[in-house]
Amino acid sequence: MKRLILAFTLFLGTVALAQQDVSVTWMTGANTPSVQFAQKTAQRYMDANPHTIGGTDYNVTIEVVPGPDSATDRLSLYLQYFEARSSEVDVMDIDVIWPGDLAAHLANLYDYEGFEAAVEDFFPAIVENNTVNGELVGLPYFTDAGLLYYRQDLLDEYGFDGPPETWQELEQMAQTIQDGEREGGNPDFWGYVWQGNAYEGLTCDALEWVASNGGGSIIEPDGTISINNERAIAAVEMAANWVGTISPDGVTGYQEEDARGTWQSGNAAFMRNWPYAYVPGQDADSAIRDKFGVTTLPAGDSGAGAATLGGWQLAVNRYSPNPEVAADVVLHLGSYDEQLARAIEVSNLPTIEAVYEDQELLDSDVGWFNALLPVFRNAVARPSTITAPQYGETSRLFFSAIHDVLTGDEDASTALAILELDLEALHPDLELGEP
Ligand code: GLC
Repeated sequence: MKRLILAFTLFLGTVALAQQDVSVTWMTGANTPSVQFAQKTAQRYMDANPHTIGGTDYNVTIEVVPGPDSATDRLSLYLQYFEARSSEVDVMDIDVIWPGDLAAHLANLYDYEGFEAAVEDFFPAIVENNTVNGELVGLPYFTDAGLLYYRQDLLDEYGFDGPPETWQELEQMAQTIQDGEREGGNPDFWGYVWQGNAYEGLTCDALEWVASNGGGSIIEPDGTISINNERAIAAVEMAANWVGTISPDGVTGYQEEDARGTWQSGNAAFMRNWPYAYVPGQDADSAIRDKFGVTTLPAGDSGAGAATLGGWQLAVNRYSPNPEVAADVVLHLGSYDEQLARAIEVSNLPTIEAVYEDQELLDSDVGWFNALLPVFRNAVARPSTITAPQYGETSRLFFSAIHDVLTGDEDASTALAILELDLEALHPDLELGEP
């Protein structure tokens, strides 16, 4: 009998000690700083193995896979995976504009331990954005807002008091500095770089021009298709005039990393980009280290600048074989400490409000996040909720129309009139109207 008890105890011991090996594939951002950070944050989770999830001990390996850098290409890839009900990736970064389009293929995080409590600390507007029919389809990871980067040293050199407050001022300053730098011997110097390629990034930039000029937000939150209006037309014309004057002709092929490349090698006076471009600009080998500042984008006729709301969420693929483990990884990646580290190391904006008050953040290179919090809060949303599940197509129509104007293939009023017709056809239930 004693022997039997001993054997049974040993058996129980083995069961308790048994760890299940699970590999979780995480598709995340492709730019170098973000991949480097992803490896580190994943390693911290692996160092804490085993993880007890739902009563089982898991020994988890996280495989970091950089996805396509362009949000448009990333969406196409995810749609291919979903079409095939693929389990290729378990955890995926999804753009703030995709919850409505992708909800059918994403796990409801509320089905897993810890999420109800965790979301209490996150920005409520983003949690709401990520909630589709009561299901949480993504944990807010980092938020984003368009910003103006400016060369403080050049503003000083050319006698400007501060960064431009209006688009007109930006045009004048960009032209003056560009002329001066070229005369000074740098033929590669440009006044202003931004994202003009035909992809999601152009939707973001163009929304900023239009909204800052009082031209609305393409399709308003109440469903009014508002894009075909005089202020929007004027805003798009303004940007088209930059191409080949203060911005390179090639800007119509630029994505974020192209703009950052020109900027960081010291060849631009101003850049529109997201916060992630800050930390690499301060790298030891950056030509512009300690020479630049960051502020809000310039105002148009509305009297105020507009920043497009961006950002990424951590989602679990509904076809993952290990959704509960994937969800636990998501909780780690999006936790307070990891968001704090991410903010400081790769200048991504936290989605947990308290991180903005953390002394470590305030003392770091990105202490300025705190001062810009109102800008981030007031960022203009793209019309993804009202157009779901067809935001992807809506945006494609918009950026294609704008791109045609930038390349001179169409004039702004014709392009926006045609766009209006296309949007009406895509969304027969929505009405036309003023912004
Ligand atoms: C950034 C933003 C994202 C946006 C993308 C466009 O990654 O966070 O929301 O869609 O840029 O290029």
